[in-house]
Amino acid sequence: MKIIVVGKGGREHALVQALHDSPGEHELFAYPGSDGMSALATCVPEEGLDGLMRVLQDEGIDLCVIGEEVWLAQGLADRCREAGIPAWGPLREAAQLESSKIYAKEFMIRHGVPTGGFDVVSSVEEAREKISGYPTVLKYNGLAAGKGVAVCTGSDMAEDFLDTVFVQKKFGKDQVFIEEFLEGKEVSVICAVSGDQYVVFTPARDYKRLEEDDQGPNTGGMGAVASRALLPPEQMQQIDETVIQPTVSGLVADGQDYRGFLYFGIILTRSGPQVLEFNCRFGDPEAQAVLPIVGGDFAGFLHQAAQGKLDESLLGFYDGWSICLVKASRGYPASSSKGDVISGLEQVTEGRVYHAGTALNETGAYVTNGGRVLAVACKGATREEAVERVYAEGAKVDFDGAQMRSDIGRMHFE
Ligand code: GLY
Repeated sequence: MKIIVVGKGGREHALVQALHDSPGEHELFAYPGSDGMSALATCVPEEGLDGLMRVLQDEGIDLCVIGEEVWLAQGLADRCREAGIPAWGPLREAAQLESSKIYAKEFMIRHGVPTGGFDVVSSVEEAREKISGYPTVLKYNGLAAGKGVAVCTGSDMAEDFLDTVFVQKKFGKDQVFIEEFLEGKEVSVICAVSGDQYVVFTPARDYKRLEEDDQGPNTGGMGAVASRALLPPEQMQQIDETVIQPTVSGLVADGQDYRGFLYFGIILTRSGPQVLEFNCRFGDPEAQAVLPIVGGDFAGFLHQAAQGKLDESLLGFYDGWSICLVKASRGYPASSSKGDVISGLEQVTEGRVYHAGTALNETGAYVTNGGRVLAVACKGATREEAVERVYAEGAKVDFDGAQMRSDIGRMHFE
């Protein structure tokens, strides 16, 4: 089978690796991919949506796995469906569950999916009027590459965020959501959805802040932990019954033929699970923790599911723990550093390395090329074993100015 993965980050590297590890001979492509993926997949230079459609047709691609959300919002899955190419990722209309917070909230209200209260505002002045106290959560309505959310403990933080959105217009020209602040532990639950059927993957938790103890600025994610043991079975069942089932039934009732990963960002409040956000793709860095523990025929599973046939028996899930540790470059998240030589990659023998912001330099050495540089992922029968292993393997990889947290897989388990 010829399979293309669309995207260039650590999540897409993890997808490419999982497809490569699937049984059978598959020819893999990545659009545009990265130097780090090039040993596993032919990387095709990016030339927009039309360019990608030409590649799919010229190469005779059997399955298009859409990793990055921007392509969904541009209608890549719609174009694939018109062209008769199986695509894993929802059509543009359903992808608004991620690309428009308003669409997502209206969907949740319509279908009884539990979520916090909210207001929508279009200016700094309106926001000041509507914010009734702190903490409060402000969210940009459109896509913002993981940077469109601010949990504000006071007016200074809120003013900063409103300035970024409405004055600097850093993300575009959309509105802002003021959301009820909910308290509880967060969990990311990712499902493969095909029509009215779904498979729940191993739940995960990501670490969004740069520094230990969840301090410092928000990032795209500094690590993640995945295990079935993350949640007691009765809580997982409650999430299934109150969140996943109404969402999937809602999609069907709305006439959406959803085929793709659906990510539920959930907060476990005292009154039950509430949905913070939907994403229409795998999480990053959750993919780098979850995908290494997915066994079976991942490629065959996605190929069938993209055609409306979901066969859970094709997959297997490792019963232990998996942890990924992100290493970021100097200055991240405010800036990033390029060109610092990365050492020790070949010494990682007890886990996987997923590249995100790396590149090969003219001497053939990997160097930093972005904010989140790479993730090291390791498994363990217990959480303690996985933590010990990921920090031992992670210590082998180094570059000038490397930043990482020392409490991934430790914090939130006290
Ligand atoms: N880890 C959160 C996300 O992928 O959006």
